[in-house]
Amino acid sequence: MKNDFRQKLHLEPYKGWLNDPNGLSYFNGKYHVYFQFSPDSPYGKGDKCWGHFESPDMINWTFCGTVLRPDCPEDRSGVYSGCGLVFNNLLYLFYTGNVKKEGNYDYITSGREANVILVTTKDGQNMSKKRILLRNSDYPENCSCHVRDPKVWEENGKFYMVLGARTLDDKGCVLYYSSVDLENWSFEKSETRDNFGFMWECPDVIELSGKKFLSVSPQGMEHGEFSHQNVYSSGYFKGEDFIEWDYGFDFYAPQTFTAPDGRKILIGWMGIGDIPYSNPTAESGWQHCLTIPRELVLSKTGEIYQKPVSEMLLLRREKRKIDEKATVSAELPFELCGDVSENFSITSDSFSLKYGNSVFTLEFSNMEVSGGRTARRVRIDNLKNIRIFADTSSLEIYLNDGERVLSTRFYPQDTEITLNICGFSGELYRLDGINVVRGKENE
Ligand code: FRU
Repeated sequence: MKNDFRQKLHLEPYKGWLNDPNGLSYFNGKYHVYFQFSPDSPYGKGDKCWGHFESPDMINWTFCGTVLRPDCPEDRSGVYSGCGLVFNNLLYLFYTGNVKKEGNYDYITSGREANVILVTTKDGQNMSKKRILLRNSDYPENCSCHVRDPKVWEENGKFYMVLGARTLDDKGCVLYYSSVDLENWSFEKSETRDNFGFMWECPDVIELSGKKFLSVSPQGMEHGEFSHQNVYSSGYFKGEDFIEWDYGFDFYAPQTFTAPDGRKILIGWMGIGDIPYSNPTAESGWQHCLTIPRELVLSKTGEIYQKPVSEMLLLRREKRKIDEKATVSAELPFELCGDVSENFSITSDSFSLKYGNSVFTLEFSNMEVSGGRTARRVRIDNLKNIRIFADTSSLEIYLNDGERVLSTRFYPQDTEITLNICGFSGELYRLDGINVVRGKENE
């Protein structure tokens, strides 16, 4: 079948542009996924708003349209990224009100405001009046105008906020604030690393089995053969190590939240700003999607493993067994899941996956299909298993139970793909899509 590139497993807008996930939460019996949304432009131009999806089960979603727009002086150039916190039967949404002044400014040390703004909602869609909590004058003196993306959490009856920032000497850092009432915030401390980029975006503090991890999306990292291969990076600190969340072409600005059963779930933007490759859906009116929600688990070695939420198992349909070697034709979307042996490889007309000398490689040979994406490599010792979610225009590849992940967009002309599989034993499932309906039509 001819591929229209409409994703079946991933949340994406009907039209316009999507970037970071925002306000992730479980509130009033529903999962809430907000996102950076430019409803008027598939290239991210025009008003930057918050769009909204909600779901009782992470399978059946409603697209609720735009719920926060730039309509006050403090957010007039964009309702930028932020988070959600459930407290006292209300959903508190904190975000950055972006202001770009008219004039001859560098927009780094002058000409820009970044305000932390709070709204609350009883239903996820109708928002209270906007309250300005922090302005540039509230940030430390060594900060440039780039301070944004509040993430708030509760700990021992007190609230904490982490913000991403760029110092005046171009170092990425985070700022921590605390509050007892969610309205009045005091600066606690900042945190940075040497040689770690000029700006840290979208920070998150993730607690897993009593251990805390700082996650950031740094801009300006030096590119390596196996690390920081993309224009901007994203990962978390484990002691002095920085472990990237994803080694594919398309991943940035993830955020986590806690499900009612205690699972820590991460959703990322399956895209990055300022990329040198292209996404042909833009010509049809929309661009970008979110990743599959991923449950975070602490491994024996103290690293964070990511695995697609178990709800994804409900989408499995016909199963085909694969034993070591096979040539199969698979209709998108599909899941391939199993154990890897010697000489593992999966090749197709559009992509190839290989493993050797402790390096896993994802490679595209047809630049029309890949939109200019070439190869991504990740070091991983002893590759034991692999799980691939292939959607109509993306691959999410989980290695060793989520020890390493690679996410990429790709645009095969046909929804049927022939796979040449070697050194792999497992199952190939045809998948049903998630169900997304349009709710309140306000676009
Ligand atoms: C990350 C980011 C955030 C900002 C938002 C604006 O992709 O640049 O730092 O809040 O996007 O859309």
